[in-house]
Amino acid sequence: MTKSEIGTDVARAVDILRRGGVVGLPTETVYGLGADASNPEAVARIFRIKGRPSDHPLIVHVSDTSTARHWTCNWTPQAQALADAFWPGPLTIVVERAAHVISEVTGELSTVALRCPSHPLMREVLESFGGGIAAPSANRFGKVSPTTALHVLRDLGDEVDYILDGGPCSVGLESTIVDCSTAPVQILRPGDVTLEQVIAVVDLVAPITGNRRAPGMLPSHYAPDCQVHPVESLGEAQREIEEMRAEFGSSGDTGIARIVVLDATVDPEKFATTMYAELRECDIQGVQDVFVVLPPDAGIGTAIRDRILKASSSR
Ligand code: TXA
Ligand code: MG
Repeated sequence: MTKSEIGTDVARAVDILRRGGVVGLPTETVYGLGADASNPEAVARIFRIKGRPSDHPLIVHVSDTSTARHWTCNWTPQAQALADAFWPGPLTIVVERAAHVISEVTGELSTVALRCPSHPLMREVLESFGGGIAAPSANRFGKVSPTTALHVLRDLGDEVDYILDGGPCSVGLESTIVDCSTAPVQILRPGDVTLEQVIAVVDLVAPITGNRRAPGMLPSHYAPDCQVHPVESLGEAQREIEEMRAEFGSSGDTGIARIVVLDATVDPEKFATTMYAELRECDIQGVQDVFVVLPPDAGIGTAIRDRILKASSSR
């Protein structure tokens, strides 16, 4: 099969979306695999390409709050407050769905997830397209999300109709998801918009460790081929590596395991931006074990811990 083209032609991307095609699209968080959210066949193709179970709902991307309202029957005051504070940006808001929202998007749920991204090229696409664009992260199900157009090309290049290149993603991990269909509102997935920032806008927020109702929030996710080992300090990483080396020695195995240590504590914000690209690079380089020194569970650290712990779960 031929690889699809990468380019910066917004009109072409919009034309393909209008005709029911599937396009790799840049956002500030990660690249999405986009299709017309009101076209059941186009949305079904997203699921086939990703190998994603059909009961895992998709996020509908919109250009602004008034377009968001079209997709819900109950745009709550909390939803409006969060949109005012963080849109366009890396925040997804879950609300009761409008009657016309197709079940291919919602996975039969009574709610819909809405996001207004800030990436300039994606904004151009959304404004020109006019409707909602359903887009999961543009990776195969359970694998590491893409943060460059090249990642999308490598993973799904044979199957998408076009890849719009918006450069490397500035945030680097998926949006924060806040469920506004419940009271108190609930954070379903931590992200760049932090718990602290959400609490400053809507005062009643259930703890992040609460009941995670989002399908797709599986314990194992975002997983590279290498084995990820989360640790709390560099010292812990060193001790575990020494133990591994000792085991190698005693088994008489002469092969030297390729081990990498990534320290997320030095600059967590920067680490978040590049962590998926680094995990992908480890796979390319044939690294077997990656130790990640986790940052404290606060601010962006909460999202980093969430993704690294999921990446480390046995598959
Ligand atoms: O940053 C992002 O959110 C990226 C970019 C492309 O926008 N998208 C993304 O999509 O991460 P995806 O499909 O990989 O993750 C979306 C998550 C899934 O875990 C899904 O279960 C959850 O959102 N979700 C979607 N609709 C939902 C709903 N109605 N209620 C609860 N969770 C929902
Ligand atoms: Mg994903």
